[in-house]
Amino acid sequence: MDSSDSDDETLPRAYKRAAWCVVVLGLLVTVGGLPQVPVLVHYHQPLGFSAGRDSPGILGQQQLKRFFPVFAEAAEAPVMLVIRSKTGSVLTPEVEQFTTRVEQSLNDPRAKVLNPLVLGVYASNRFGHGGFQLPSKLVRQKLVSRDEKTTLLVLIPTSFPTYATFTSNGSNRTVFAPWLYRKQLMEFLHELLVDVPRDTEVLLTGNPVIEYERFFDHSIELLLRAELFVLPLATMIFIWLVREIRLLALPPLVLLCSLALSAGCSVPLAKWTPLSPDVPPAMVSVLLAVSLDYSLFMLSRFMENKSKALDREDNAEILLCQTGQTILVSGGLIAIAFFGAFFLPEQNLHSAGLVLGITVVCSMVVNICLSPALLYLFGERLTEDGSNGNDEHQWGSIGLSGLSGSERDALVGEEVFVKHSSSRGWLRLMRLIERWPRMAVCLVFLVFLPLTWQIPKLHGTADIYASLPGDLPSVVAMRELAQEFPAGQFDPYFVVLSGSALLSEEGYKAMLQLCTMLQAIGVDSILGPVYLLDQSVDWDTAQRWQKEPSSLELHKAYGKVMQSHVNGSAVLLEVFTDFLPRGSNGATWVRTVRHGLALWQEQHPEFTAFLAGGATLMVDSQDTVMHAVPTYLAVCILLISAVVFGVFRSILLPLRLAFALLFTLAATFGMAVVFYQTPLFHGLFPWLVNYDGLCFEIVPMAICIAVALGLDYDIFLVSRIVEFRKEGFNDRSSIILGVASTGGIISGAGAIMALAFSGLFFSEKLLHQQFALLLVTSVLLDTYVVRTVLVPALMMSAGDYNWWPRKMPNARR
Ligand SMILES: *[C@@H]1O[C@H](CO)[C@@H](O)[C@H](O)[C@H]1NC(C)=O
Ligand SMILES: *[C@@H]1O[C@H](CO)[C@@H](O)[C@H](O)[C@H]1NC(C)=O
Repeated sequence: MDSSDSDDETLPRAYKRAAWCVVVLGLLVTVGGLPQVPVLVHYHQPLGFSAGRDSPGILGQQQLKRFFPVFAEAAEAPVMLVIRSKTGSVLTPEVEQFTTRVEQSLNDPRAKVLNPLVLGVYASNRFGHGGFQLPSKLVRQKLVSRDEKTTLLVLIPTSFPTYATFTSNGSNRTVFAPWLYRKQLMEFLHELLVDVPRDTEVLLTGNPVIEYERFFDHSIELLLRAELFVLPLATMIFIWLVREIRLLALPPLVLLCSLALSAGCSVPLAKWTPLSPDVPPAMVSVLLAVSLDYSLFMLSRFMENKSKALDREDNAEILLCQTGQTILVSGGLIAIAFFGAFFLPEQNLHSAGLVLGITVVCSMVVNICLSPALLYLFGERLTEDGSNGNDEHQWGSIGLSGLSGSERDALVGEEVFVKHSSSRGWLRLMRLIERWPRMAVCLVFLVFLPLTWQIPKLHGTADIYASLPGDLPSVVAMRELAQEFPAGQFDPYFVVLSGSALLSEEGYKAMLQLCTMLQAIGVDSILGPVYLLDQSVDWDTAQRWQKEPSSLELHKAYGKVMQSHVNGSAVLLEVFTDFLPRGSNGATWVRTVRHGLALWQEQHPEFTAFLAGGATLMVDSQDTVMHAVPTYLAVCILLISAVVFGVFRSILLPLRLAFALLFTLAATFGMAVVFYQTPLFHGLFPWLVNYDGLCFEIVPMAICIAVALGLDYDIFLVSRIVEFRKEGFNDRSSIILGVASTGGIISGAGAIMALAFSGLFFSEKLLHQQFALLLVTSVLLDTYVVRTVLVPALMMSAGDYNWWPRKMPNARR
């Protein structure tokens, strides 16, 4: 690097011209791309995770739609009004009046299109042409809480219009707009709730209400704002690390340019393939993380070179060739980690991976080109003159360039030249690790064993409430409802049975056996030919009830159920759970029931059984995603290892890297198990009681980002070690010097990252909190455990000369 003949006048001029070109180009990119940022942030096309086409949930849903289309549509439709008395019993004339008012106002066109049935203690509860009336004892038992303080008024829509006609310019246009009817119903209900009975409160809940309120969820904007709070803190860490306030003008410029470039590249993509609404916040987080890191690498190296009294050209050259190469390798590997999401069988993750990969590449390109150019042009002016040589907080300022390798090693050995306070701590630590490297590795493992031990227990959750803000009024109401009533009462699971002999004595026996199995797994009640809610019906009873013409309510009810729950050779069992069917227990229940149904079918090969409704589809998408994660991880780590092998020409290095990455992931997810699957922290964070398990949606993304950040620091450290090794230090000294010279920067960068992600902790969504926990834990582990202890200890315990190819200069010792 000293070979450049900088006496030549043409060289600085060429440098200058190139630098200005880059800066102007950066300016153009920024101006061109920035208008796209708001477009991206407001890109709110909701896109759910979807299961594979022939997953058991989809098959179940198809069966339900085929034989019992009415139930398929009505399953998610009921709206509940939870009426709660503040003083005593809720069974008052005022509540009766309120009920009547609700029933009468259903003539409102906004409600009438849905043709809702009304269930309630004071409602008429009379349905159909035959005027069938629900037994009042049953209504009372199901709709009034035991202490009589709460009652439910339930609206069950029975028609489901999906098209709406708008008149524009005198012509009628018909569009697909199911949401319009939901919106109108909500407006209608909110008008009703303006005037509620005295001394009561009326809460609105049910799946349509939750879907509606979710539409107004502004957590993305809140999150972006929370991320902005990070900037001042990040600035302080920058100041502490770089110690040059004026240089701080550069990282925001670079960040802005990266943001503009990646937004400019992603927006056309978002038009082409749908983006999930969680992608823009993730993109901003990743951009902040990567761009600030790379700026920090550049600035600190610039200051270090400057303190070595290198001239502008040499300094720029080192920035481009050494730090630039580090960034290229690290950014390339991170991009691989994100683009690897293409191996996940889920469209949401494809687009997320693609956009995040593009973001990383953009940020990498901008940092490699723009940072050195800016530093070359303005770096001198932005730093104090005459600071050459006396800026001693950096390790690089040690004036050793005149000494031979062996002499320097001797100095390292004797710690003679460690007069720099900031590196002394690192050197002391490295000294300990050098003495007992294997013990250090064992110690780290022992300390983290309690966490990594938890990994087999890790399970996902199909809890829809985890991805909703916990303070959404309808979610709060749903949880309160679940305390007083069987929560699955108006959101049943469906078991669709088919087989020609179902309605025979044998068939009844088999179905009763199935119901017993369901009861054993845990249900509140079942409705179907063999069960009337709490009462089982055997073949003889059924025959008797159907033959004897009787006026008994029970017999009429049974006839009604037979009409609605039997279609040819298909039978429907509605299964009501006593927990929230889409809540934290849903996934486990669905899996157990599916297993039970499989066993039942083995015993009765003449029948088939399908489960539909509730969390079934969610469980399928969870399985799809979770099963793909190991493949993704394997592909990613293999590719990354291959690239690392190509770059550093060492076999042990990629192995060590993969090992460190897996260690961080294991400890991180172990932490998540402890937090979200054990009651250990429930005292501290009481809302965790409502949840169990990790949201599967975030698992792949969290793994991607954790791998990416782990790589970032690891590559930065290893590149410095290689640099020292190339300068002629032996392996151990290179490792020690590498760790010591990157110590402050990685600690600072890690702290910035942890801060950047902890903004998510303040979200009301458990999903975001879990994301934050995973990212913050993994960054802190990478920064303060892996880089500090694990990497040097592993490299030292493997002994000398095993890490590098023979191409390295011989170390002199
Ligand atoms: C009964 O099933 C058939 C399909 O097998 C379907 O077309 C029909 O609509 C169903 N009848 C009712 C009343 O749901
Ligand atoms: C539009 O629809 C309304 C009501 O359905 C109808 O009265 C009117 O004639 C229609 N207009 C046109 C142009 O079709």
